[in-house]
Amino acid sequence: MGFPALSGVNLTIEAGEMVAIIGPSGSGKTTIINLIAGIDRPTAGTVTVNGSRLDQMTEEQLAVWRGRTVGIVFQFFQLMPTLTAVENATLPLDLARLGPARERRAVASRHLAAVGLADRGDRLPLELSGGEQQRVAIARAMACEPPILLGDEPTGNLDTGMAQEMLKLLKQQNGAGTTVVYVTHDPGLAARASRVISVRDGLIVDDRRSQERAAR
Ligand SMILES: Nc1ncnc2c1ncn2[C@@H]1O[C@H](COP(=O)(O)OP(=O)(O)OP(=O)(O)O)[C@@H](O)[C@H]1O
Ligand SMILES: [Mg+2]
Repeated sequence: MGFPALSGVNLTIEAGEMVAIIGPSGSGKTTIINLIAGIDRPTAGTVTVNGSRLDQMTEEQLAVWRGRTVGIVFQFFQLMPTLTAVENATLPLDLARLGPARERRAVASRHLAAVGLADRGDRLPLELSGGEQQRVAIARAMACEPPILLGDEPTGNLDTGMAQEMLKLLKQQNGAGTTVVYVTHDPGLAARASRVISVRDGLIVDDRRSQERAAR
């Protein structure tokens, strides 16, 4: 038996919300993201995302479901170093076998253009700045146009200006109807969400929407 990363968490996120998760190191933020992504499985309780019971799926079902339903931006982007920007942004489409193979690259190019990298598609990650790599990571997360975008400290590696840029991109996706959930240590970046969930010791200790914050 292990240590419970989360316990007694009862959380509902509505489609179209933009939610920030904050809390100290080790409080369970990544575990929440991983549960929503179907990367972690609960030892007890249920996880329903986009109408599917993730806790009842097999690994194979989860892999297919994940590919089509969630895009994830990681703290260190985790781009494939030997693939160009456009190849990185195409990868999820290939993995999900979404659309005709010959059209996937064009879809990925559109996403790269949407994050301001129309002219950087042929670059390798190492030939891009940190902010550009982060944009590729967003384009990759958007590849299958998933209804849910998750970020586990997607701005953790960026200076303030670039972090603001990143938030702008996430907000843009949210404005287009995507549900966005991101973890951040930065209260200022959390305040950009319409709802802020605070986690501590594996429990949700605070959950407020922006109107409530504004009313304080
Ligand atoms: N694979 C694992 N095996 C055992 N314990 C784990 C595992 N992953 C996380 N934990 C534990 O679960 C708790 C929550 O971890 P989690 O990674 O969700 O925290 P976090 O809030 O994301 O922290 P940080 O801000 O440092 O990223 C911690 O006590 C951690 O040590
Ligand atoms: Mg974490």
